[in-house]
Amino acid sequence: MTVRRPGPGLAGRLFLAQTLTAVVAALTLWAVAAAVGPAIFHAHLHRAAGLVTAETSRHVEEAFRTASAISISVALAAALAAALAVSGYVARRIADPVSRLASAARELAGGHYTVRVPPAALGAEFATLTGAFNEMAARLESIETTRQRLLADLGHEMRTPVATLEAYLDGLEDGVRTLDPASMAVLRTQTERLTRLTEDITAVSRAEEHQLHLHPRPTTLDALTEATAAAAADRFRGKGVALSIPATPELWLVVDPDRIGQVLGNLLDNALRHTPPGGQVTLSAEASGQMVTLAVTDTGEGIPADHLPHVFERFYRVGSARDRGHGGSGIGLAIAKALVEAHGGRISAASAGPGRGSTFTVTLPRSARRAARSA
Ligand SMILES: Nc1ncnc2c1ncn2[C@@H]1O[C@H](COP(=O)(O)OP(=O)(O)OP(=O)(O)O)[C@@H](O)[C@H]1O
Ligand SMILES: [Mg+2]
Repeated sequence: MTVRRPGPGLAGRLFLAQTLTAVVAALTLWAVAAAVGPAIFHAHLHRAAGLVTAETSRHVEEAFRTASAISISVALAAALAAALAVSGYVARRIADPVSRLASAARELAGGHYTVRVPPAALGAEFATLTGAFNEMAARLESIETTRQRLLADLGHEMRTPVATLEAYLDGLEDGVRTLDPASMAVLRTQTERLTRLTEDITAVSRAEEHQLHLHPRPTTLDALTEATAAAAADRFRGKGVALSIPATPELWLVVDPDRIGQVLGNLLDNALRHTPPGGQVTLSAEASGQMVTLAVTDTGEGIPADHLPHVFERFYRVGSARDRGHGGSGIGLAIAKALVEAHGGRISAASAGPGRGSTFTVTLPRSARRAARSA
């Protein structure tokens, strides 16, 4: 296979092209001046001086040729020098941003996702190109960050149950432990934790890759809230947290009730988990135009402002130590967000700060079918 040598760079090629243009222009100018000038001069000489001797005519024309040759040569040399200087400058002005972009692309290909290209005054097309490049680099950077965190978190999440299982199995093997109901319970809890982790990861990956299959069907707003509240009621009672559902408007909507039930279930779970006994959680619903808004408000721990924008990221937990104790994987809200967005809706979190409760708000179009079609 023959390897093609890359040859001169963009600046060199631009400079060569412009030099060639200037040389061709100079030669053309010379040829035209040489062909046209003497004949015109000859005609003018005859008209001005009438008949002159051959000797005089030869001298005068000689003088014209010399003067023309000197002035045209000097002018051409000066013009060429000026043209070369300008073309060198222009070539560099155009080629510098392009070579900066090329070396940034090389760095990006080498895995340096933090690289960005500064804007250059090279017109709309180049601005689009650098904008798209920077956007691509930013996306790759964020995917890489998520990937690294995902792997680190996965490793972390699996370490505790796997270590516990190993210790119990070793104990059983060495005869230090017996397979009594207490050991069985621990083994079960740990395997369940691992199973839940794998299910959660599959669910969130599916949801985020938009592989969710929604089955929207007509349902009423109060059927949604009541079913969710009924499923959570025992746990609320058990912890001593009051769950209230203010009167829900009579309203039909077309959503996947299981999926929206899952979203509300996740929000109620979180509210219960982060509200101390004696607290209050409210699940409210209201409609305006073609949208419905569902809100879960609690009087619990609240969320510090700097954590609020991150709570929908997978594996994110406010103060990991605080929430590891609660046993969540930090995935519930990421799944809720993906499910709500698959319906064409939005989910947001608000909190007045630590100790002052939180509110999670879900806004959905009344017809997920129509939303999905128009999306
Ligand atoms: N109602 C709430 N009050 C205070 N903090 C909350 C509330 N809801 C969520 N959070 C914070 O947001 C984090 C992310 O919530 P998310 O539901 O995604 O994960 P999780 O509840 O920790 O685990 P999982 O839902 O996977 O069991 C929680 O760990 C918690 O720190
Ligand atoms: Mg949760």
